[in-house]
Amino acid sequence: MIGRLNHVAIAVPDLEAAAAQYSGALGAKVGAVQDEPEHGVRVIFIELPNTKIELLHPLGEGSPIAGFLEKNPSGGIHHICYEVDDILAARDRLQAEGARVLGSGEPKIGAHGKPVLFLHPKDFTGTLIELEQA
Ligand code: CO
Repeated sequence: MIGRLNHVAIAVPDLEAAAAQYSGALGAKVGAVQDEPEHGVRVIFIELPNTKIELLHPLGEGSPIAGFLEKNPSGGIHHICYEVDDILAARDRLQAEGARVLGSGEPKIGAHGKPVLFLHPKDFTGTLIELEQA
């Protein structure tokens, strides 16, 4: 069911410093800062030849990234995103398999303007999984 790896998201304490490291030391193509108030994050996407890296920083009160950065003050891998063809079919199948979908269970529009859902990390070997309808 799952398709390509769309991105790996890394929570970072300093977005500009992390972006500068990727563009400088790693020589990557780094995009512009995007605010996503609905998700409580500020993001920068880095384009790699075969996938993307999403640098994440908290935005506003109650950001879902804030607690993660408290536990991981120097940053760390926060989630991975897989593409699916049909996000509602994927959700129904996963729920039938006993997986927990976070939030209301209804897809939200993600950073690429496409519907996304998150799956509980305890159901997936300790990894927060984002599904994006490609
Ligand atoms: Co993501």
